[in-house]
Amino acid sequence: MPAGKRILLIVAGGIAAYKVLELIRRLRERGISVRSVLTRGGAEFVTALSLQALSENKVYTDLFSLTDESEMGHIRLSREADLVVVAPASADILAKMAAGLADDLAATALLATDKPVMVAPAMNTQMWAHAATQANIATLKSRGILTIGPNAGDLACGEVGAGRMSEPHEILAAIEAFFASPAQQPLAGFKALVTSGPTHEAIDPVRYIANRSSGKQGHAIAAALARLGASTTLISGPTRLSNPPGVSLVAVESAREMLTACQAALPADVAVCAAAVADWRVASPANGKLKKKGGKPPALELVENPDILAALSAAGNARPRLVVGFAAETDQVVENAKAKLKRKGCDWIVANDVSSATGTFGGDSNTVHLVSQSGVEDWPPMSKDEVALRLARRIGEQLAALR
Ligand code: CTP
Repeated sequence: MPAGKRILLIVAGGIAAYKVLELIRRLRERGISVRSVLTRGGAEFVTALSLQALSENKVYTDLFSLTDESEMGHIRLSREADLVVVAPASADILAKMAAGLADDLAATALLATDKPVMVAPAMNTQMWAHAATQANIATLKSRGILTIGPNAGDLACGEVGAGRMSEPHEILAAIEAFFASPAQQPLAGFKALVTSGPTHEAIDPVRYIANRSSGKQGHAIAAALARLGASTTLISGPTRLSNPPGVSLVAVESAREMLTACQAALPADVAVCAAAVADWRVASPANGKLKKKGGKPPALELVENPDILAALSAAGNARPRLVVGFAAETDQVVENAKAKLKRKGCDWIVANDVSSATGTFGGDSNTVHLVSQSGVEDWPPMSKDEVALRLARRIGEQLAALR
């Protein structure tokens, strides 16, 4: 269920740090991605290499690393996750969190985050029972921080009592329960259909007409809808991208195949057409490979492809309640998008400003305007992942309003 969710895992100092290696494996098995921050104390118990190998993601260790800050600042690091998990949470990091200190990357990320935080305390039983730690935990709970454990039992220091970090399967269950909550799954119970990528239109068995669409935006939208709980079908032309977690992929080549696959995926509550569908196909593709034969180059007669967005918008009883199209524009972005909204019969157009000043075809960022009958929302420049998540949230609000 929580496939596609993202966790920022903060590994603080404590012998229980070895258990997070198992936790990372279990999370990854469930399609949850993990990015880790390793504190100086944590690095005494596990290596960044182990965390990196298991999470298949870069591990962040140093607040003042210039390269890390340029690649991914501490603010972005703390905001791109759906949940921040501190495991093991030492007495020290709990005290820092309660006091609002920001003297290393972990503490700074915890202060900067706008996402829910879960802590799995692990420490000596006297340290856990100490009035200072108990006051810190009470403060953190009063601020809405989620806690899991600690358990009672034999401790690594030889004492017996409360202070053992919860087992990986217990932390995993707490994380899954959190992600299954309605607030985290606003699109649970809804079915989404997304088109993505280019189409390939055959000239003969080995040649085709195509375009430069990378599929990044469409795939990111499918991933974001699934992440918010929608049962999502991604109908994609050929791309180099991997299938987003939790999404069912239908791979197609041509516009006509894409249309057939979309019709087969109905009914759906929302359709998002992000594919760069070829406007034309070759009227009669050759059955065998065209040969040069020393004569004139062949003339290709083109015929118009079906318009998938318009077809879904006019699907009668099978029409998704919300149909969203894209418009790649270089000039008069909003005016053109408004005209396209009418022409295609869809509900929203995400007008994608592809003038070179604001974004590039195939790049990672986008400047978009959300155009509907009721008006225009101008979104600031953001990454394609952020556009996707914001669009998925808006779709969730709209479907809830239409319910
Ligand atoms: N679309 C589609 N099927 C087609 C053509 C386009 O579903 N055969 C969808 C695209 O997925 C996108 C929107 O329609 O959501 C884009 O409309 P289109 O008419 O292709 O406009 P642009 O590509 O922006 O170009 P132009 O305005 O120059 O036609």
